[in-house]
Amino acid sequence: MGGSPTAGVGPAGASGVNGHPHGTDAPGSQVRAEVSGEGGLEPIAGWQDVLVVDAQFGVPRLAEIYDALDLDRSDLDVYAAMVDEFGASSVLDIGCGTGTLACMLARRGIAVVGVDPASASLDVARRKSGADAVRWLIGDAMTLPPLDVDLVTMTGNVAQVFVPDREWQTALAAARTALRPEGRLVVETRDPEQRAWRGWTREQTYRQVDVPGVGGVENWVELTDVALPLVSFRAHFVFVSDGAVLTSDSTLRFRDRQEVVESLVTAGFAIEDIRGAPDRPGREMVFVAAARSPASTA
Ligand SMILES: C[S@@+](CC[C@H](N)C(=O)[O-])C[C@H]1O[C@@H](n2cnc3c(N)ncnc32)[C@H](O)[C@@H]1O
Repeated sequence: MGGSPTAGVGPAGASGVNGHPHGTDAPGSQVRAEVSGEGGLEPIAGWQDVLVVDAQFGVPRLAEIYDALDLDRSDLDVYAAMVDEFGASSVLDIGCGTGTLACMLARRGIAVVGVDPASASLDVARRKSGADAVRWLIGDAMTLPPLDVDLVTMTGNVAQVFVPDREWQTALAAARTALRPEGRLVVETRDPEQRAWRGWTREQTYRQVDVPGVGGVENWVELTDVALPLVSFRAHFVFVSDGAVLTSDSTLRFRDRQEVVESLVTAGFAIEDIRGAPDRPGREMVFVAAARSPASTA
């Protein structure tokens, strides 16, 4: 799925500011997360409904087509394999989005918690096979409760949505708290040396996808700003059935290897390995980090 521009391992995904209503056709829309608390969505205690998420995750019409725009999720295979490799029986998936990994693991008998601030994405997730066995938390990674899981996953370059260092560091500390002693965090992020954003142009990303039940959707992304380590882009979605044009603005943070290592160590992790993503060779860094005991962090 590596070349997909607007979902999963495409450039998609940072939080930002705004507050357009769902279904807006305003350019660059982002939406306030909604807490329903119904139908299996569990708001994280103390989480304030102040986080806004990118339109592509928080606008129902866009969340509904997220999976169809990114059908090949072979990027998740490496994480399913790590569940086996580490003998994990419980997993927290941070930024679970439409829940593809969470439901896949739940179907394999793993106890899964999925957390995401985008209720529209979680609504999609909760309709999938295996979803009934998942504990769905609505909230953000910075306010996670203690969960005592064996493994925390952050797939689809979720790490890059945490733009300010304090938010990234807070999210890592929360992941550490959610883990059992010696549990592991696996997290991927694009290698900034590969400059993936150079391909984020209309010319290189334009496609039209036929989405079952929706019809044709034109989709492309275009860079709006490169101010390293931040890269901003706008994703465009044109629905052929009614001509609706929706856009979603995102800013991603590109951290280099050393920055990620240092942030993990600061959060109480020991780096076990830095791997590649088999489906995106040379482009991703996949960090495997073990939670250090408080004694060893002193
Ligand atoms: C590119 S998507 C990846 C989703 C999923 N992990 C996947 O592989 O398909 C990024 C996800 O991060 C979520 N997100 C944004 N801010 C977040 C935060 N503060 N805490 C947790 N998740 C967040 C978004 O709502 C979105 O679902």
